[in-house]
Amino acid sequence: MPELDSPQRQMPDSLMLTGFWYRALPADRVHRNRLQKAMLLEIPLVIGRDRMGHPFALRDACPHRGMPLNCGKFDGENIECSYHGWTFDAHNGQCQHIPSLTADQNLKVERIYAGSYPCEEQDDFVWVYMPDPGPPGAGFSEPQEAPDAAPQVEKFGVSGNEKYKLAYLTADMPVSIDHGIIGLMDPAHGPFVHQAWWWRSRHSIHEKKKNFEPIPNGFRMSAHTPSSNSAPYKLLRWYAAADSITTTIDFVLPNLRRETIRAGKYWFSSLTTVTPITRNQCRIDVVAAWNIFRWMPFGAELLKFVFAKFVEQDRRTMELQAEGLQHNPHLMLIDDADRPAKWYFQLKAAHLEAKRTGGEMKHPMTGPVTLKWRS
Ligand code: FES
Ligand SMILES: [Fe+2]
Repeated sequence: MPELDSPQRQMPDSLMLTGFWYRALPADRVHRNRLQKAMLLEIPLVIGRDRMGHPFALRDACPHRGMPLNCGKFDGENIECSYHGWTFDAHNGQCQHIPSLTADQNLKVERIYAGSYPCEEQDDFVWVYMPDPGPPGAGFSEPQEAPDAAPQVEKFGVSGNEKYKLAYLTADMPVSIDHGIIGLMDPAHGPFVHQAWWWRSRHSIHEKKKNFEPIPNGFRMSAHTPSSNSAPYKLLRWYAAADSITTTIDFVLPNLRRETIRAGKYWFSSLTTVTPITRNQCRIDVVAAWNIFRWMPFGAELLKFVFAKFVEQDRRTMELQAEGLQHNPHLMLIDDADRPAKWYFQLKAAHLEAKRTGGEMKHPMTGPVTLKWRS
C-alpha cells in the first residue's frame, strides 16, 4: 500500500463481519425461564436461559409467519409461539409441535427449525456466534456449530482458588461499528476528550513513540512501559514494588481490544468489544479482571467509576460526531496518529478478500512498525 503524505480520504463501509462471536447481553440481564430481546448485526434475537441456567439464542422471528418469539411462552425448555402455538426447542430451534395438524397430516415437524445460534456465557456476558449467512431455505436449516469458543478476558495463571476481581461496563454508541472501533484505538483524542485532574491535562501533551507488530487478524502495541505522566501508573509502580510495568494492547478482528498491564505478580487485564447492533449503532462493552488492589474495599466500584467516566466521555463525543457525520461521512486519516485506523480498514478488507477467494488472509503489515504522535 503506498504511503502518501496527504491524508487518506476514506469512506467507512460499516460492514458488519459475520463468522465471529459477539457479546449479546450482560449475563445478569438474562434470567432463567425468561425471554429477553437483543439485536446483533441487524438480526433480532431472543435470548434466555433454560431451567438449568444455560443460555440460548434464537432468531426472534417464528419460521411460520414471523411472529417475534420473545412474545411467546417459555417453559424452561421449549418456546411456544404466541400466534399459532408452534413450539421450538430453545437450544437448537427444532420444531417440536404444530397444534393445527390433524392425525392424518404427516408434515415432518422435526425438519422445521427456528434459526438458532451458538451461545456461551463468558466473563459476565452472554456471547452469540453469528455465522456466515447460510444458503436460503429459511426454516429448514439446522443450527451451525461455532468453530471455536467465545473469547475470554485473559487471567494470568489464575488457577483453583487464586483470587481475582471482575467487573463490566456497557455503553450504547449512536455510530457505526467502524467509528466505534477507530474511536477506541485512536491515540490522539485523549488529551481533548479525557481530561481529568487525576488523569492528565491537555498541557501534558508530549511526543510518544510506540512499536506495533502484526498478530493474526490484528496488531499489537508491543509491551512497553506506560507513560509516566499519569498518576495511576505512579501509584501502581509504588504498590507493586515492581521496577517495570509493562502494558500490551492488542486489536483483533472483528472488534476485540485486549489490554494487559503487568507489574511483578500483579496484573490487570481487560477485553473491550465494540458490537455492531445496527448499521448506525454499536455498543462498547468493557470487561476487566485484576488481582491488583484486590483488598481494596470498593475497588471494583472505583474502577467502574473511572471507566464509566472515560466511556461516557467517548459516548458523548460519538453522539456529537454522529451529527456531523450525517453531513460529512468521509474520514481523513493522517499519519501516524490514524495509522491504527488505517490498519483496521485494511485488515477488514484483507479478511473479506480472503473469504471471497478462499485463500490465506494477506496481512496488511509486513513487520514491526514504529509510530510517533503527540498526545
Ligand atoms: S407465526 Fe409462529 S406459529 Fe404462526
Ligand atoms: Fe476514548
